[in-house]
Amino acid sequence: PPSQPPSTVSSLDWTGLREAVSGCQACKLCEGRTQTVFGVGHERAHWMVVGEAPGEQEDLQGEPFVGTAGRLLDSMLRAISLSRGAAAPEQSVYIANTLKCRPPRNRNPEPEELARCEPFLLRQIELVQPRIILAMGRFAVQSLLRSSEPIGRLRGRVHHFHGVPLIVTYHPAYLLRNLTDKARAWEDLCLALDTLQST
Ligand code: URA
Repeated sequence: PPSQPPSTVSSLDWTGLREAVSGCQACKLCEGRTQTVFGVGHERAHWMVVGEAPGEQEDLQGEPFVGTAGRLLDSMLRAISLSRGAAAPEQSVYIANTLKCRPPRNRNPEPEELARCEPFLLRQIELVQPRIILAMGRFAVQSLLRSSEPIGRLRGRVHHFHGVPLIVTYHPAYLLRNLTDKARAWEDLCLALDTLQST
């Protein structure tokens, strides 16, 4: 049977957390992965992006959002002077997913997989201590806000996750297929900027 993630995840440092993720066998996704996809960015970035799960390219390269959706994400971030590689925390974004392993053929995450993987994301958020979180797509929102409302009903206002302002927006992969919602995603980025500037 799959083993649980260690119950001590909430006390791990970055090194311990990385090791726990890379060796995780808590759900069946471990069987199909090339490698786990941990997260990337400044470890004290002011911004944090939470996506869904690794896709094909992420599984191969070991880094979140490096495929087509990732290119769109990078240009969205660049538009507000942010990047995953920035040395200054104010300009950096830490990027992580709700799942650290690629689901087969990029199917949706299952509730059990989300539940098993969640302690890793929560610890990443605790360690980064971001000033603002962008939750992209319904699975990130479901995990962090415990809400099954559609994105369209949650975006446009400021939520909170453990006291950190959280902005809900569309997933970049969705935006690639629904160009008309790009204007709304831009509004969401502006709301995030405004929220950060007023705190
Ligand atoms: N989509 C995601 O949600 N995360 C990735 O890392 C890549 C695509």
